[in-house]
Amino acid sequence: HAEARYRAIVDTAVDAIVVIDRAGTLHSFNRAAERIFGYAAEEVIGRNVSMLMPDPDRSAHDGYLERYHRTGERRIIGIGREVTGQRKDGSVFPLELSVAEWKADGEVRFTGIVRDITARRTAAEALLAAK
Ligand code: HEM
Repeated sequence: HAEARYRAIVDTAVDAIVVIDRAGTLHSFNRAAERIFGYAAEEVIGRNVSMLMPDPDRSAHDGYLERYHRTGERRIIGIGREVTGQRKDGSVFPLELSVAEWKADGEVRFTGIVRDITARRTAAEALLAAK
């Protein structure tokens, strides 16, 4: 029961919910993630989360994870950051990323929640332009 309830919550969430392991390999990708990034879950599971962002972060993301494992210093976990994502069709978009860390049977996992902020950005720019 609990499992089915959690699945329903994740599947109906408005934001993308993405789980990776310590190496950045994708383990889950909810429906909103499929809609926001344009990939089906089966196209991304087992691949590196860096496929969801443009360079320079794409080439650097493995290094960000390594730095975190080495130093324990959190720069996004528990803080959040506005960054740039890349969809399957190659287009880029602004997103708000939050990351949480947890453990399953001793294995480190990270859950990322991604909100597409294109509309918010456009509205903010329109307000600034109107000044
Ligand atoms: C670190 C970018 C998605 C997990 C970072 C950093 C950047 C970044 C710039 C380094 C921050 C710094 O050193 O100042 C991005 C971009 C994404 C993305 C552009 C676009 C899709 C994700 C997702 C997850 C994730 C979906 C988890 C599921 C992490 C972790 C760290 C990290 C665990 C290191 C811990 C930390 O710095 O607090 N990412 N990321 N990232 N990212 Fe990502």
